Amino acid sequence: MLDDPGEAAELLRQGGVVAFPTETVYGLGANARDETAVNQIFQAKGRPSNNPLIVHVAAPDQWSLAARDITSAARVLFDTFSPGPLTVVLPKLPAIASNATGGLDTVGIRVPEHLLARDFLSMCNVPVAAPSANLSGRPSCTTWQSVMEDLDGRIDAVLKGPPPTIGVESTVVDCTREIPVLLRPGGISLQQLQSAVPETISLQNPSAQHPSTQSEQATRSPGLLHPHYQPRAKVHLVPAIKFTAELLERTSEKLTRGEAFVTIGTGERIELRDDHCLASYQFGDIEQLARDFYESLRRADRLGAKHILVQLATGDSPIVSALRDRQQRSAE
Ligand code: TXA
Ligand code: MG
Repeated sequence: MLDDPGEAAELLRQGGVVAFPTETVYGLGANARDETAVNQIFQAKGRPSNNPLIVHVAAPDQWSLAARDITSAARVLFDTFSPGPLTVVLPKLPAIASNATGGLDTVGIRVPEHLLARDFLSMCNVPVAAPSANLSGRPSCTTWQSVMEDLDGRIDAVLKGPPPTIGVESTVVDCTREIPVLLRPGGISLQQLQSAVPETISLQNPSAQHPSTQSEQATRSPGLLHPHYQPRAKVHLVPAIKFTAELLERTSEKLTRGEAFVTIGTGERIELRDDHCLASYQFGDIEQLARDFYESLRRADRLGAKHILVQLATGDSPIVSALRDRQQRSAE
């Protein structure tokens, strides 16, 4: 465990694999030019080798450390939303190790807003390939303790930082063609992207002029193929969490009465009249819930819950579609 970004950067420069905080989730970084170091990321996480990593740089004008070229739409998106929770996919520079992009000739580039992350990245002085710092398939990590829980003994260090301000991953936008395509919802909403580049479309919700098939989705965004964000407990999505009885009725698969469960939502804290409700994590608003969603899933697992009742996010906050996506995938 490290507090000093300089020490963490030195380890990375020597070929190490180092977890670091960002405003979204912790990343697991290695020198993106070093195939051996990048391979250690895949090993540590148990990540499928065809799932490309995002390359992180310290400032928006450093896109050229990872990409061959930039489109005008990508420039506008970078100018508007970077540093921040945005990843732009561009044609890959040959210097980036091919295993970092899962063999694709494109590369996702992101500039985190988190100050410690940016200090760390500028001291690394190389492009840093980094997926989320968790075992593949598990919920992402928003605390250093959770990173240690998954990866202690498998990586070289964790740089400790303050908690994230967003808590779900970046929005991934493919800018390799003329029309930007949202591949993964995240900290920047489709509406926000469209306010900067109106023709932006979403792969998950394509327009009539731009139909998208499942196989196209899979080839353009390999990360969508694999299970993600899943705790050990079974996740049930419910519209509202009020009273234990109501919520038991509303789960699609009825819980076996007597099995331990945890609730996560933005409702009232339910009275623990049911002995089997181990904990009720209720947040003041959707933004707070998003910041603590992954950690709440992990806490439920630590308590040994069999089930987690998750209140499906609603409303028009920009984070809603990203949070709903993560909630739905945690329940798959
Ligand atoms: O907020 C984030 O994006 C965090 C922090 C650490 O930056 N990173 C993160 O990485 O969530 P990861 O590996 O868990 O998710 C990366 C996503 C995957 O869905 C992957 O398929 C997609 O980005 N991706 C990366 N490079 C791509 C590329 N060249 N083309 C299409 N999709 C790409
Ligand atoms: Mg991930």
